[in-house]
Amino acid sequence: MLRRLHPNQPTSFAFSPENQKWAEAQLTKYPEGRQASAIIPLLWRAQEQEGWLSRPAIEFVADMLGMAHIRALEVATFYFMFQLQPVGSAAHIQVCGTLSCMLCGAEDLVSICKEKISPTPHTLSEDGKLSWEEVECLGACANAPMAQIGKDYYEDLSGSRFEELLEQFRGGNAPVPGPQNGRFSVEPSAGLTSLSDVNDGGPTANKSVSLAKKFNDTVKRIDGTDDTITIHWGKQ
Ligand code: FES
Repeated sequence: MLRRLHPNQPTSFAFSPENQKWAEAQLTKYPEGRQASAIIPLLWRAQEQEGWLSRPAIEFVADMLGMAHIRALEVATFYFMFQLQPVGSAAHIQVCGTLSCMLCGAEDLVSICKEKISPTPHTLSEDGKLSWEEVECLGACANAPMAQIGKDYYEDLSGSRFEELLEQFRGGNAPVPGPQNGRFSVEPSAGLTSLSDVNDGGPTANKSVSLAKKFNDTVKRIDGTDDTITIHWGKQ
């Protein structure tokens, strides 16, 4: 798939003061002259801050790393994890369309995206709050069908539950991620048939859901104010 920069670009980009500090700290991880190695984390941070990667953001990162703009553009346009067009202000929905999810209903989820968000992927909804795309296997096949929304996975999706989730995101809420059908993680959907007392009195959510609830940054823009920047490697 051809990945191009969006025709409408902002005039400038700058990291927030906290993100700038974070980015400069990343550079200290690498030997002198090898700062270009930080290209992926810095582009990712720019995307976390803005929601997507604009040309000014890519060039800002290139300048910071002493790289030719074209080399940073090569990286940004190669990796699908980088969004090269504006995404929904509330959430960007990534529906897995690979085999397990497709067999379990991903096509229904894509149809819902087309109806509720936009007929085409990578296009903002009319209210600007949501956008969507179909992605390749996200490694949660045992909980198919699923979608990644922000940093978290929403699994075991039915069409009706998916529609509810979209409305919750549209309303500015971040629903609890993980299995959406009551499963704890990847146990049989009809319930445990052995070791059924193992989880008695244990946690009510699996580890990744617990961490998601703790950090609560599913679709949050990252301006760095939540981070305590600790540099515990090499030169400072
Ligand atoms: S096929 Fe969808 S997560 Fe693997």
